[in-house]
Amino acid sequence: MKKLYFGSNLKMYKGIEETKVYLEKLCDNTKDLSREEIELFIIPSYTSLPDAVKSVNQQMVRLGAQNMGWEDQGQFTGEISPCMLEELGLQLVMVGHSERRHVFGEKDIEENKKVKAALKHGFTTLLCVGETAEEKEYGIATEVLRTQLKVGLHGIDSSRISQLWVAYEPVWSIGVNGIPASAEYAEVIHKVIKETLFDIFGEAAEEIPVLYGGSVNPQNARQLIIQPSIDGLFVGRAAWDADKFDRLIREAKYAFDNK
Ligand code: PGA
Repeated sequence: MKKLYFGSNLKMYKGIEETKVYLEKLCDNTKDLSREEIELFIIPSYTSLPDAVKSVNQQMVRLGAQNMGWEDQGQFTGEISPCMLEELGLQLVMVGHSERRHVFGEKDIEENKKVKAALKHGFTTLLCVGETAEEKEYGIATEVLRTQLKVGLHGIDSSRISQLWVAYEPVWSIGVNGIPASAEYAEVIHKVIKETLFDIFGEAAEEIPVLYGGSVNPQNARQLIIQPSIDGLFVGRAAWDADKFDRLIREAKYAFDNK
């Protein structure tokens, strides 16, 4: 059976205590769900990570960092190095979230350095890609995504594939003003992403899970998860209440099992 991925990026929300309470509740709520069938992950704020790591069994909920510098150490004020994240006992690093690209101006070439560093340090690496509304309007979404993947994953050996996850998050669909992508549109794009991964890595690329993110909510989660090329849901706002996220996961899983 295909494994489904469910995760959330807590962005710049929830401090140390709130994160702990949220994670404990989420672990408790979801403890009966088979981790062979679902992979659950949460990406809290940096300051919450040390406590989060202590309070969570990462076999149940994998914890990740929202960003990472690409050098082990050096004169990089304000950056967090892969070694520092390793020291925390983290397993996952997210690279290239839309807000990093579009609010903080990160480019594909930088995402590539981060992906390489994260893989070298043994992290599971979640590379986020997505086109802007303007790029979609000009009909170049496919080209943009292919570029983000080809540059972002440049020079990566196919032996690293088991550490790679990809999230498709169209910029126009993310956050309070976002419009969720239709399941049909998401499926078409996920196919393009999977074809591009095949171009880069060959057949082994089939192993790489491709998650959809951007205004996922309890209404659209079921339609999205039943699409053949969607392997999981990367959820923001609709996941920040542990009870609601648990319900969303169960409903999506039920829809998937009964499709
Ligand atoms: P959203 O966020 O679900 O609140 O739109 C998604 C994301 O940024 O990953």
